[in-house]
Amino acid sequence: MTSGASAAAPRVVLGVGGGIAAYKSAEVVRRLAALGAQVTVTPTAAALRFVGAATFEALSGRPVLTDVFTDVPSVAHVHTGQDADLIVVAPATADLMARAAHGFADDMLTATLLVTRAPVLMVPAMHTEMWAHPATVANVATLRARGVVVLDPAVGRLTGPDSGPGRMPEPEQIAAVAELLLHRRDALPRDLEGVRVLISAGGTREDLDPVRYLTNRSSGRQGFALAQVAASRGADVTLVAANTALLTPPGVHVVPVTDARELHTAMLDRTGAADVVVMAAAVADFRPATRAAAKIKKTGDDGAPTLELVRNPDVLVDLVAARRPDQLIVGFAAETGDAGADVLTYAREKLARKGCDLLVVNRVDGGRGFDTTDNAVTVLSAGRGTTGAGEGSGDAVTEVPFGPKTVVASAVWDVVAQRIAARSGAG
Ligand code: CTP
Repeated sequence: MTSGASAAAPRVVLGVGGGIAAYKSAEVVRRLAALGAQVTVTPTAAALRFVGAATFEALSGRPVLTDVFTDVPSVAHVHTGQDADLIVVAPATADLMARAAHGFADDMLTATLLVTRAPVLMVPAMHTEMWAHPATVANVATLRARGVVVLDPAVGRLTGPDSGPGRMPEPEQIAAVAELLLHRRDALPRDLEGVRVLISAGGTREDLDPVRYLTNRSSGRQGFALAQVAASRGADVTLVAANTALLTPPGVHVVPVTDARELHTAMLDRTGAADVVVMAAAVADFRPATRAAAKIKKTGDDGAPTLELVRNPDVLVDLVAARRPDQLIVGFAAETGDAGADVLTYAREKLARKGCDLLVVNRVDGGRGFDTTDNAVTVLSAGRGTTGAGEGSGDAVTEVPFGPKTVVASAVWDVVAQRIAARSGAG
């Protein structure tokens, strides 16, 4: 086996199956190239009936590989898989997944899938009936058991007038998971299979009147990345989303909310059914004491109204109070240090005050944290002994370096998965 790791551009093979979603694969090529990858497109013969080779060749800057009898002396059907750092199959049709699950190697793509030892990401697209058919369900289970990351399809409009689960997730979402796999240089474990996860994300809006509100700068990206990665690792994920403009992660159930009290109700109603609860939302601590029924008008003089604010509930504290003994609760904290104490000291105080198991700490400086695509965090794990900077506190400290939010999310799930494993070991 040849190691695919290259110091320069990672080599990504994009397999394209023969489904109508193949038209979106052109954008997938662009997104993968934007990650700095060298992309080789291997469409099936059927895929080339939907999108011409010239499109893929122009976008990737490389010849496409389809059948094993082209350029035989270079043995491309073997070295393409051997040299790859990652294989992405988008769209993965029911037929293609069946052939891959059964080890067929009758074209360039299936041969490449059989040869490679690199991580494989499959992005299904098909009609709902095909996705739900026991044959496909069994093939997906086989592929996942072998370490292939098979995303759930998105729910929405299909080829005809019908809609349901079966749409290919968007190229931007595919690229985000591909980026994570390239970072890990390994398959994603399905270590959250059967774990029920409840996550909040976004920033609450507190109405002043019908046109104005108080809010914060949270985009929801970190919470959405946590949801996407948890689902990709097998979890059953519900995402309570406050005022986000992000794509629904494949396989995730989204509950939209607006203000802190709605978010409070949505989380408390669902926490009983969750094994892991993550409070990534930026919840407004205060709201206007009253919401004016009509737009607040200027008065004749130069004066301005004084806003009276009242406290919102602390959702995290109430979730901790309502917890089941076997439940794991993860809080977030956006912190800055000051003359009084450093970030970690404030974070330890917050972990103790909130009573959660883990606290994911964003140092809000240097472009980190809010409304960015990359992030760096410190994960404090309550009462887990001392590693690194945790000396004397009893809290373990995991530093997650600056990187894409999916990579940060996966590192957080690594800590959560360790805690779950430690608990089931102890139990
Ligand atoms: N949080 C919450 N409900 C609130 C405020 C915050 O559930 N009303 C949660 C956040 O989702 C986060 C954690 O509490 O998981 C910490 O949020 P943060 O804003 O850092 O802390 P605060 O409790 O607001 O404390 P302070 O702003 O005084 O640092």
